[in-house]
Amino acid sequence: MIRLGVNIDHVATLRQARRALEPDPVHAAVLAILGGADGITIHLREDRRHINDRDVRLLRQTVTTLLNLELSVADEIVTIACDVKPDQATLVPEKREEVTTEGGLDVIAHQAAVAKAMKRLHKAGIGVSLFVDPDLAQIELSKKLGAKAVEIQTARYSEAKSEADRLKELNLLQESTAFAKSLGLHVHMGHGLNYCNVAAIAQIPGVEELNIGHSIVSRALLVGMERAVREMKVAIRAAH
Ligand code: PXP
Repeated sequence: MIRLGVNIDHVATLRQARRALEPDPVHAAVLAILGGADGITIHLREDRRHINDRDVRLLRQTVTTLLNLELSVADEIVTIACDVKPDQATLVPEKREEVTTEGGLDVIAHQAAVAKAMKRLHKAGIGVSLFVDPDLAQIELSKKLGAKAVEIQTARYSEAKSEADRLKELNLLQESTAFAKSLGLHVHMGHGLNYCNVAAIAQIPGVEELNIGHSIVSRALLVGMERAVREMKVAIRAAH
């Protein structure tokens, strides 16, 4: 069964809209786990636009299943990760002006910085996943650098405007997964997945973990977090 990591960043986005105390992502994490989440994913951004240092530390104490921390290669954030010790660290690209993470980490262009961050995380005993595009060269280098997993980004699949484009992206995701598995990497996926488009992704042989945020948090606003997570688990299970 594929693991579902629920990304609760946008619970904190709503809190920060008022710079208030609620809604608290720690409460959301508890409800997500009660709804069947296999793990909780959070992104501590350098600009702290949603999740902050206090959230990361409290969530580390609260989430006893799997805490996946997304982070950039910035020294300051890597230091926090090494101290907090999430169960898994996912390195992602980060640009100040973007609304959300745009595209995968260019491991080839930023090899030295990625290797340096990975070395520090490994020394702290933290397994590293690299968020990359469905690109064989990026996946191959991820393995060479010592990643235990790749999170293959599904944005182009999620945003495809025609059925032909959707199938093309799906094929690319399939091919990338098979290649990553042949190298011995674990395969995760995420970005833009929702209740309607998740089934095809969940059917790709070898995918072990999906990280889904915006669609679950959006539904949770209307039907509650537990139910929103349960319904996503059903959508994933229906694919098998
Ligand atoms: N995986 C990664 C690496 C991400 O950066 C994000 C967005 O924060 C997600 C998954 C979740 O994407 P979405 O919110 O579109 O479900």
